[in-house]
Parts: sequence; C-alpha cells; structure tokens
Amino acid sequence: MSNDTIEPPTDQSQRNTLAPWTYLSTEFHEIESELFKSHWMLAGHISSLRKSGDYITFDAAGERALVIVDEQGDLRGFHNVCRHRGARLLTENGSCKNRISCPFHGWSYGLDGALLGVPLPDTFESLNKADYGLQPLPVEIWHGFVFVSFSVQPTTVAEQLQSVEAEVAPYNIEAMEPLAPAYEQTRPYNWKVIHDIDNEGYHVPIGHPSLQQLYGQSYSDRIEHGLPISDATINEKPARLWSVRNYQSLLPQFDHLPAHRQKSWWYIGIFPNAVIALYPEMVEYYMTIPVSVNETRYRGQQFGLADSRRETAAARYLSSRINGITEVEDESFVRDMQEGMRSSVFPEPLLSSTEAGVQYFHQKIQSQLPVARLRQEPAAGTLREVNARLQSAQV
Ligand code: FES
Ligand SMILES: [Fe+2]
Repeated sequence: MSNDTIEPPTDQSQRNTLAPWTYLSTEFHEIESELFKSHWMLAGHISSLRKSGDYITFDAAGERALVIVDEQGDLRGFHNVCRHRGARLLTENGSCKNRISCPFHGWSYGLDGALLGVPLPDTFESLNKADYGLQPLPVEIWHGFVFVSFSVQPTTVAEQLQSVEAEVAPYNIEAMEPLAPAYEQTRPYNWKVIHDIDNEGYHVPIGHPSLQQLYGQSYSDRIEHGLPISDATINEKPARLWSVRNYQSLLPQFDHLPAHRQKSWWYIGIFPNAVIALYPEMVEYYMTIPVSVNETRYRGQQFGLADSRRETAAARYLSSRINGITEVEDESFVRDMQEGMRSSVFPEPLLSSTEAGVQYFHQKIQSQLPVARLRQEPAAGTLREVNARLQSAQV
C-alpha cells in the first residue's frame, strides 16, 4: 500500500501518554526496534574486557554485537555476524586466543576484525579477504560501562551523561569487579511497563514499605538535562524491617565517596531501556530488551570495589535483599498493569506531578515514533506507513 492510499485513523485525537494499544500491538513492537537501534545500548562492564581476546556479546532489536579487546589493548565493536553466511561468531562473554573462529564452517578473523582464514579457499570463485572483514560498530566506555550502538550516534555517551559525570566519577566504577554473575530473565510482559513503574516514586510509600522505611522521607524524581534521576538519602530513624534496620546500622564509611553520597541511593535512567543504580557499597545496572510484544529480557549485574570489611559484605547482602523485596512487589504491579491494558475500562492515565518521569518516557517514545500519540491503533497493516506520514509531518 502506498502512502497516498493510507488514511490516518479516524480518531485523530492525540495524547502525551501512551495508549494501552502500544503495549499490545505486534506492529508497534516491530517499529519500536528503531528506538533500540538509534540509541546507545549498555552492553556490559569493562571488568569482562581486561585483556586481549576478552569479549562480551549483546543482542537487541534483531541485531547482534560483540565487543572485544584487540591485540593493542583497544576495544573494538563488531556485528556478531559471520561474513560467510551469517552465523553467530561468539556467545555470551569470554575470551578467545588471537582469533575469532566461526563455529559453522571455520572462517577466522583477527581481533581487529580482519578476515584471516577460510577453509578450502580455492573453492570460492572470487574472494578478496579484504572485503570480508567483520562489520564494525561504535563502542564507548563510560565510567566502566561498555556501550555499543547499531547506528552512528549524533552524540557520545559522555555528552549524553555529561550532567552526572562529576557525581559518578568518585565511585570509580571502572575499577569495580562483578559481585555476582549477570542475571537475565525473560518476563511475560511488554518492556515499557517495567520503565513505567521504574520512572516514578509515587508508588514507593504504599507499594514498597521497605524502601519507604529506608529512604521514604527524602525520595525524589527529576529530569536533569534530559536524564531521569531519582535521588534518596537513607533515613536516620531506625526502620522496623530487619533488612533495612541492619543495613542502616551496618553501612560503613566509604572514603572514596563525598559526604553527600555516604548514605545515598540514586538512579540514572538512560533512554530507552537502562538504569544505573548507585549505592554507597556497590553499583548496579539493569535493563530491558524486548523479545516480543509481551516478552522482555530483563538483565543486570552488580559491581563493587575490592573491600574486605565485613560491614561492606553485610551492606551488599542487605541492600540486595531490600532490592529483592522491591522487585517482587514491582513484579506484581507490573503484571497487573500489563493485564489492565486489555481491560475494557482501562482509564486514560492521570499522572501526578511526581510521575513526570512516566510522562517524559512516553513523550520520548512519541517524539521518535509519533504514531504512539494516537489513541487508537491504526488499521492492521498500516502502522508503519501512518508513523512515517506523521514523522514527515513533524519534520
Ligand atoms: S557462516 Fe561462518 S564460516 Fe560459514
Ligand atoms: Fe517500584
């Protein structure tokens, strides 16, 4: 169908929050991959990339990336796609000697991506090895976090996160090591509901009694230079809950952190899908990667500086326990939200000013995918074209 024959939906009323159909539409899920291809993606941490041959892999939006340390010690990003017939070259994280060998037919590449070896080279009519190196991808390290991108980015990660740079630097994240293996689960709901709950603290006093006792009096959300930031200071008053009370009393002093971060839990949202959480005793990231319209990979990992104090180990255990309780609570709200999207009486979201982060997240999606402003899903088979038409109208 050409653009000329597509009629926009009859219900043209537009809104600045996402309508339930955007959480349920397979066609919308398909164009959402643009969000993931056009932003930097947090792919891992530098602790997995300390020496030549170390690599990490990262998949999103139908793309596959690998980041590897070359023989000079520099990081290189490539599509994790063999140039012969597209096999996956490397899986998960690990280390290879000085070659990347394809497990399918054995083409091998140098750590700089150059095609080095091909079994039975004479059986190829014309093969100029120089034309068949791995396809490069942009890579950037920001305070120990490794970002890749499936497109050329207009801004660097450092520019994007510039407003928090000075606050993050003292944590020394690049010197941290994992406290536990990365976790990854596939969850049965749309990726956006996870950020909808994560982008506001309005639900904390009621939905998360343990967090409320930990930092309820001080918690606040704000958008700072385009970054959603949540900031909280641990309450002085001893909590009733065992984990929180013990965390409050055992948390030691961390000499590398300034005074205002000694008792601070704060979070940086990185659009579209990642959050960096900074606690005095450790740092964590978590993120979503859509698999289908109602399936999401949820992954993350915790990192900490070498610290042999028993209080630090206890604080790490207790904060993980508090976060575990929070996660179980959120899980139930998220499932209910996703289910509510199907309800015949699902209300227009009415947001408090303390839920500005939700609004911001929705508007960011709408600015890139303007079809998401519509209250009704476009007719089957037309969503991509309607979106393109709205996009050209807003240029
Ligand atoms: S697909 Fe990699 S060698 Fe054939
Ligand atoms: Fe929550």
